[in-house]
Amino acid sequence: MKVTVVGAGAVGATCADNIARKELATELVLLDIKEGIAEGKAQDMMQGAALLGFDTKIVGSTNDYAKTAGSDVVVITSGLPRKPGMTREELIGVNAGIVKGVAENILKHSPDAIIIIISNPMDTMTYLALTATGLPKNRIIGMGGALDSARFRYQLSQHLGCSPADLNAVVVGGHGDTTMIPLIRLATWNSVPVTKFLTEDQQKKIVADTMVGGATLTKLIGTSAWYAPGAAGAAMVESIVRDEKKLFTCCVKLEGEYGQKDICLGVPVILGRSGWEKILDFGLNEAEQAEFNKSAAAVRNMNDVLKTL
Ligand code: 2OP
Repeated sequence: MKVTVVGAGAVGATCADNIARKELATELVLLDIKEGIAEGKAQDMMQGAALLGFDTKIVGSTNDYAKTAGSDVVVITSGLPRKPGMTREELIGVNAGIVKGVAENILKHSPDAIIIIISNPMDTMTYLALTATGLPKNRIIGMGGALDSARFRYQLSQHLGCSPADLNAVVVGGHGDTTMIPLIRLATWNSVPVTKFLTEDQQKKIVADTMVGGATLTKLIGTSAWYAPGAAGAAMVESIVRDEKKLFTCCVKLEGEYGQKDICLGVPVILGRSGWEKILDFGLNEAEQAEFNKSAAAVRNMNDVLKTL
């Protein structure tokens, strides 16, 4: 398997490091536009191989897309991260052109690749990549829900005093501070609804803290987070390259599912070797569907901004 990560910033490099350590690819290419950064980080990771026991061959490249040729999966993290106080949506002016160019360059050398989009505003960048490449919808997958659901499980585990591994909880909708929807009604602790163990106020706080999980870290760190985003990207790569059929909430093209079409938005999907293989209907109740529709409207507004760029 050959995997490429475009963007050797904190998120891309962390995603690449996770992929290498898990040996999800025989060859891993890390590409960045900034001179030397991808080569340096690739060598740094390779120099840990003897200690960490992986045999992944990591190659760094400064903007030479020929090196990415024949990639099975490509993770796009290129673009600016947000600063404290910024929304992900404010990055659209700079990141849209970057993501469009990267997707087109990738396609020239890897026409059969499955593309995972991490760059923000991710829902709109996913829609942009799909329209710019014309790839089949199942091969363009946005990473947002996988990260937000992991943050949701973290928040729940803090309140319940349990292992996040014992929790099943998903976030659907957009990957925005106000557009994501943590589905607490459906969350379970080893098959028992978590609502059984939490007061209404605790549930509201967990949902609210999950929604601003990224912004909270940006305020603390001074830039976007990278450990959990990088791990989420690598987990999606793993389910694809190992054909694990795992369920993640991913930003994918909707054609009527969840009552929406001509939009890319976070819904539960099965990830396997051909990309996203199936959308699952979790049966939102009236209130959740109303939130989903509101989220879709906000993302659609951002998609319309693309037409003005
Ligand atoms: C986050 O929420 C980078 O959007 C990503 O941390």
